[in-house]
Amino acid sequence: MEVVICPDPDAAAALVADAIERLVRGNPEAVLGLATGSSPLGVYDELARRVRDGTLTLGRARAFLLDEYVGLPRGHDQSYRSVIHRDLVSRVDLDPAHVLGPDGNATDLVRECAAYEEAIAGAGGVDLQLLGVGTDGHIAFNEPGSSLASRTRIKTLTSRTRQDNARFFGGDPDAVPRHCLTQGIGTILEARHLVLIAAGGSKAEAVRQLVEGPVSASWPATALQLHPHATVLVDPEAASRLDRRDHYVETYEAKPEWQGL
Ligand code: GLP
Repeated sequence: MEVVICPDPDAAAALVADAIERLVRGNPEAVLGLATGSSPLGVYDELARRVRDGTLTLGRARAFLLDEYVGLPRGHDQSYRSVIHRDLVSRVDLDPAHVLGPDGNATDLVRECAAYEEAIAGAGGVDLQLLGVGTDGHIAFNEPGSSLASRTRIKTLTSRTRQDNARFFGGDPDAVPRHCLTQGIGTILEARHLVLIAAGGSKAEAVRQLVEGPVSASWPATALQLHPHATVLVDPEAASRLDRRDHYVETYEAKPEWQGL
Protein backbone atom coordinates (compact mmCIF):
# COMPACT_ATOMS: atom_id res chain seq x y z
CA MET A 1 0.00 0.00 0.00
CA GLU A 2 1.27 3.45 -0.86
CA VAL A 3 0.41 6.25 1.56
CA VAL A 4 0.70 9.81 0.27
CA ILE A 5 0.32 12.60 2.83
CA CYS A 6 -0.62 15.67 0.86
CA PRO A 7 -0.94 19.02 2.66
CA ASP A 8 -2.44 20.57 -0.46
CA PRO A 9 -5.82 19.12 -1.58
CA ASP A 10 -5.33 20.46 -5.11
CA ALA A 11 -2.03 18.59 -5.39
CA ALA A 12 -3.73 15.36 -4.26
CA ALA A 13 -6.51 15.86 -6.81
CA ALA A 14 -3.95 16.50 -9.55
CA LEU A 15 -2.04 13.31 -8.68
CA VAL A 16 -5.20 11.20 -8.97
CA ALA A 17 -6.28 13.00 -12.16
CA ASP A 18 -2.81 12.28 -13.59
CA ALA A 19 -3.28 8.57 -12.84
CA ILE A 20 -6.68 8.61 -14.56
CA GLU A 21 -5.30 10.54 -17.52
CA ARG A 22 -2.41 8.09 -17.94
CA LEU A 23 -4.86 5.18 -17.78
CA VAL A 24 -7.23 6.65 -20.37
CA ARG A 25 -4.39 7.62 -22.72
CA GLY A 26 -3.22 4.01 -22.63
CA ASN A 27 -6.73 2.65 -23.07
CA PRO A 28 -9.44 5.15 -24.09
CA GLU A 29 -12.09 2.56 -23.18
CA ALA A 30 -10.77 2.18 -19.64
CA VAL A 31 -13.26 1.35 -16.91
CA LEU A 32 -13.40 3.81 -14.02
CA GLY A 33 -14.90 3.06 -10.63
CA LEU A 34 -16.59 6.19 -9.32
CA ALA A 35 -17.32 7.12 -5.71
CA THR A 36 -19.78 9.67 -4.38
CA GLY A 37 -19.22 11.80 -1.31
CA SER A 38 -17.01 14.79 -0.65
CA SER A 39 -13.66 12.94 -0.82
CA PRO A 40 -13.37 12.63 -4.63
CA LEU A 41 -14.80 16.09 -5.43
CA GLY A 42 -11.38 17.69 -5.99
CA VAL A 43 -10.52 14.95 -8.47
CA TYR A 44 -13.79 15.51 -10.32
CA ASP A 45 -13.11 19.27 -10.46
CA GLU A 46 -9.67 18.58 -11.90
CA LEU A 47 -11.00 16.09 -14.49
CA ALA A 48 -13.66 18.63 -15.51
CA ARG A 49 -10.99 21.29 -15.92
CA ARG A 50 -8.82 19.07 -18.10
CA VAL A 51 -11.74 18.01 -20.29
CA ARG A 52 -12.81 21.66 -20.65
CA ASP A 53 -9.25 22.63 -21.59
CA GLY A 54 -9.17 19.86 -24.18
CA THR A 55 -6.20 18.06 -22.65
CA LEU A 56 -8.24 15.01 -21.62
CA THR A 57 -11.17 13.11 -23.06
CA LEU A 58 -13.27 10.53 -21.27
CA GLY A 59 -15.47 10.16 -24.35
CA ARG A 60 -14.89 6.43 -24.73
CA ALA A 61 -14.36 5.54 -21.08
CA ARG A 62 -16.89 3.57 -19.11
CA ALA A 63 -17.75 3.89 -15.42
CA PHE A 64 -19.43 2.02 -12.59
CA LEU A 65 -20.74 3.44 -9.35
CA LEU A 66 -19.96 1.80 -6.02
CA ASP A 67 -23.35 1.97 -4.41
CA GLU A 68 -26.88 3.39 -4.31
CA TYR A 69 -29.64 4.01 -1.79
CA VAL A 70 -32.67 1.75 -1.93
CA GLY A 71 -36.07 3.30 -2.45
CA LEU A 72 -35.35 6.97 -3.15
CA PRO A 73 -37.73 8.20 -5.84
CA ARG A 74 -36.16 8.04 -9.31
CA GLY A 75 -34.38 11.32 -10.02
CA HIS A 76 -34.14 12.23 -6.30
CA ASP A 77 -31.33 14.74 -5.99
CA GLN A 78 -29.52 12.60 -3.37
CA SER A 79 -29.65 9.32 -5.28
CA TYR A 80 -26.06 8.48 -6.12
CA ARG A 81 -26.95 8.38 -9.80
CA SER A 82 -28.06 12.06 -9.55
CA VAL A 83 -25.09 12.99 -7.39
CA ILE A 84 -22.51 11.56 -9.78
CA HIS A 85 -24.27 13.16 -12.73
CA ARG A 86 -24.05 16.55 -10.99
CA ASP A 87 -20.52 16.16 -9.61
CA LEU A 88 -18.87 14.61 -12.66
CA VAL A 89 -20.81 13.24 -15.64
CA SER A 90 -22.50 16.53 -16.59
CA ARG A 91 -19.13 18.33 -16.45
CA VAL A 92 -17.05 15.97 -18.60
CA ASP A 93 -17.55 14.13 -21.89
CA LEU A 94 -18.37 10.74 -20.37
CA ASP A 95 -21.28 9.16 -22.23
CA PRO A 96 -24.09 8.95 -19.60
CA ALA A 97 -25.13 5.63 -21.16
CA HIS A 98 -21.72 4.27 -20.18
CA VAL A 99 -22.05 5.25 -16.52
CA LEU A 100 -23.81 2.50 -14.62
CA GLY A 101 -24.94 2.15 -11.03
CA PRO A 102 -27.02 -0.42 -9.21
CA ASP A 103 -30.75 0.40 -9.44
CA GLY A 104 -32.12 0.92 -5.94
CA ASN A 105 -35.66 0.85 -7.34
CA ALA A 106 -35.43 -2.48 -9.13
CA THR A 107 -38.38 -4.75 -8.36
CA ASP A 108 -36.04 -7.67 -7.73
CA LEU A 109 -33.09 -6.24 -5.81
CA VAL A 110 -31.30 -9.57 -5.46
CA ARG A 111 -31.43 -10.08 -9.22
CA GLU A 112 -30.30 -6.47 -9.71
CA CYS A 113 -27.18 -7.09 -7.60
CA ALA A 114 -26.28 -10.21 -9.59
CA ALA A 115 -26.85 -8.35 -12.87
CA TYR A 116 -24.60 -5.53 -11.67
CA GLU A 117 -21.79 -7.96 -10.94
CA GLU A 118 -22.26 -9.41 -14.44
CA ALA A 119 -22.14 -5.94 -15.99
CA ILE A 120 -18.84 -5.13 -14.28
CA ALA A 121 -17.34 -8.46 -15.31
CA GLY A 122 -18.73 -8.00 -18.85
CA ALA A 123 -16.88 -4.68 -19.14
CA GLY A 124 -13.65 -6.47 -18.24
CA GLY A 125 -13.56 -5.29 -14.62
CA VAL A 126 -12.69 -1.90 -13.15
CA ASP A 127 -9.27 -0.45 -13.97
CA LEU A 128 -9.12 2.30 -11.36
CA GLN A 129 -11.51 2.49 -8.43
CA LEU A 130 -11.88 5.74 -6.49
CA LEU A 131 -12.85 5.32 -2.85
CA GLY A 132 -13.68 7.42 0.17
CA VAL A 133 -13.92 6.01 3.67
CA GLY A 134 -16.64 6.41 6.26
CA THR A 135 -15.77 7.54 9.79
CA ASP A 136 -16.54 3.96 10.88
CA GLY A 137 -14.19 2.55 8.24
CA HIS A 138 -16.80 1.59 5.66
CA ILE A 139 -15.93 1.57 1.96
CA ALA A 140 -18.76 2.03 -0.51
CA PHE A 141 -21.59 1.02 1.86
CA ASN A 142 -19.83 -2.01 3.35
CA GLU A 143 -20.49 -1.31 6.98
CA PRO A 144 -18.43 -2.81 9.83
CA GLY A 145 -18.99 -6.56 9.95
CA SER A 146 -19.21 -6.88 6.16
CA SER A 147 -17.53 -9.98 4.81
CA LEU A 148 -14.20 -9.21 3.19
CA ALA A 149 -15.29 -11.61 0.41
CA SER A 150 -18.70 -9.97 -0.11
CA ARG A 151 -20.23 -9.27 -3.52
CA THR A 152 -22.80 -6.66 -4.59
CA ARG A 153 -25.80 -7.01 -2.29
CA ILE A 154 -28.41 -5.27 -0.15
CA LYS A 155 -27.10 -3.81 3.11
CA THR A 156 -28.59 -2.00 6.09
CA LEU A 157 -26.91 1.30 6.91
CA THR A 158 -25.69 1.85 10.47
CA SER A 159 -27.19 4.69 12.47
CA ARG A 160 -23.74 6.34 12.44
CA THR A 161 -23.65 6.41 8.63
CA ARG A 162 -27.22 7.69 8.50
CA GLN A 163 -26.18 10.38 10.99
CA ASP A 164 -23.08 11.23 8.89
CA ASN A 165 -25.14 11.43 5.70
CA ALA A 166 -28.05 13.37 7.26
CA ARG A 167 -26.36 16.58 6.06
CA PHE A 168 -27.52 15.68 2.55
CA PHE A 169 -31.12 15.11 3.74
CA GLY A 170 -31.90 18.37 5.49
CA GLY A 171 -30.02 17.31 8.64
CA ASP A 172 -32.53 14.55 9.42
CA PRO A 173 -30.99 11.06 9.89
CA ASP A 174 -34.46 9.51 9.59
CA ALA A 175 -34.74 10.92 6.07
CA VAL A 176 -31.66 8.90 5.03
CA PRO A 177 -32.75 5.58 3.52
CA ARG A 178 -32.22 2.56 5.76
CA HIS A 179 -31.07 0.24 2.98
CA CYS A 180 -28.65 0.40 0.08
CA LEU A 181 -27.14 -1.69 -2.68
CA THR A 182 -23.38 -1.78 -2.61
CA GLN A 183 -20.53 -3.46 -4.39
CA GLY A 184 -19.03 -5.96 -1.97
CA ILE A 185 -15.53 -5.79 -0.60
CA GLY A 186 -14.65 -8.82 -2.75
CA THR A 187 -15.99 -6.95 -5.78
CA ILE A 188 -13.97 -3.82 -4.97
CA LEU A 189 -10.79 -5.82 -4.42
CA GLU A 190 -11.00 -7.06 -8.02
CA ALA A 191 -10.43 -3.55 -9.41
CA ARG A 192 -6.89 -3.29 -10.72
CA HIS A 193 -5.95 -0.11 -8.85
CA LEU A 194 -7.63 1.20 -5.70
CA VAL A 195 -7.27 4.90 -4.91
CA LEU A 196 -8.69 6.00 -1.55
CA ILE A 197 -8.89 9.66 -0.55
CA ALA A 198 -9.53 10.85 3.02
CA ALA A 199 -9.37 14.30 4.57
CA GLY A 200 -10.03 15.74 8.00
CA GLY A 201 -9.65 14.66 11.61
CA SER A 202 -12.96 12.76 11.59
CA LYS A 203 -11.30 10.20 9.30
CA ALA A 204 -8.09 9.84 11.36
CA GLU A 205 -9.09 6.68 13.22
CA ALA A 206 -10.46 5.00 10.06
CA VAL A 207 -7.20 5.88 8.26
CA ARG A 208 -5.10 4.53 11.15
CA GLN A 209 -6.98 1.25 11.07
CA LEU A 210 -6.93 1.00 7.29
CA VAL A 211 -3.19 1.61 6.99
CA GLU A 212 -1.76 0.17 10.19
CA GLY A 213 -4.50 -1.86 11.88
CA PRO A 214 -5.06 -5.59 11.58
CA VAL A 215 -7.19 -6.70 8.61
CA SER A 216 -10.67 -7.08 10.01
CA ALA A 217 -14.29 -6.97 8.94
CA SER A 218 -14.77 -4.58 11.87
CA TRP A 219 -12.90 -1.96 9.81
CA PRO A 220 -13.86 -2.83 6.22
CA ALA A 221 -11.32 -0.43 4.67
CA THR A 222 -8.51 -2.59 6.10
CA ALA A 223 -9.26 -4.93 3.16
CA LEU A 224 -7.11 -2.55 1.07
CA GLN A 225 -4.09 -4.14 2.77
CA LEU A 226 -4.90 -7.29 0.76
CA HIS A 227 -4.71 -5.48 -2.58
CA PRO A 228 -1.50 -5.46 -4.63
CA HIS A 229 -1.99 -1.90 -5.90
CA ALA A 230 -3.68 0.37 -3.38
CA THR A 231 -2.93 4.07 -2.99
CA VAL A 232 -4.15 6.08 -0.01
CA LEU A 233 -4.05 9.88 -0.22
CA VAL A 234 -4.61 11.72 3.04
CA ASP A 235 -4.30 15.22 4.37
CA PRO A 236 -2.27 15.86 7.56
CA GLU A 237 -5.39 15.75 9.79
CA ALA A 238 -6.52 12.38 8.43
CA ALA A 239 -2.90 11.14 8.80
CA SER A 240 -2.57 12.43 12.37
CA ARG A 241 -2.91 9.03 14.09
CA LEU A 242 -0.50 7.12 11.84
CA ASP A 243 2.53 5.76 13.71
CA ARG A 244 4.74 5.52 10.61
CA ARG A 245 3.84 8.96 9.25
CA ASP A 246 7.48 10.05 8.85
CA HIS A 247 8.31 6.92 6.89
CA TYR A 248 5.44 7.48 4.43
CA VAL A 249 6.60 11.05 3.84
CA GLU A 250 10.21 9.93 3.35
CA THR A 251 9.19 7.12 0.98
CA TYR A 252 7.06 9.39 -1.16
CA GLU A 253 9.73 12.11 -1.29
CA ALA A 254 12.28 9.52 -2.47
CA LYS A 255 9.98 8.20 -5.20
CA PRO A 256 11.06 8.89 -8.78
CA GLU A 257 8.71 11.43 -10.35
CA TRP A 258 8.04 9.31 -13.44
CA GLN A 259 6.61 6.49 -11.40
CA GLY A 260 3.19 8.05 -10.80
CA LEU A 261 0.69 6.54 -8.33
C1 GLP B 1 -20.83 7.41 1.92
C2 GLP B 1 -20.53 6.66 0.64
C3 GLP B 1 -19.10 6.22 0.54
C4 GLP B 1 -18.21 7.39 0.92
C5 GLP B 1 -18.43 7.76 2.35
C6 GLP B 1 -17.54 8.91 2.80
O1 GLP B 1 -21.39 6.68 2.92
N1 GLP B 1 -21.37 5.52 0.43
O2 GLP B 1 -18.82 5.74 -0.77
O3 GLP B 1 -16.87 7.02 0.73
O4 GLP B 1 -19.77 8.13 2.53
O5 GLP B 1 -18.07 10.12 2.35
P1 GLP B 1 -17.29 11.48 2.29
O6 GLP B 1 -16.30 11.34 1.18
O7 GLP B 1 -18.33 12.52 1.98
O8 GLP B 1 -16.67 11.66 3.61
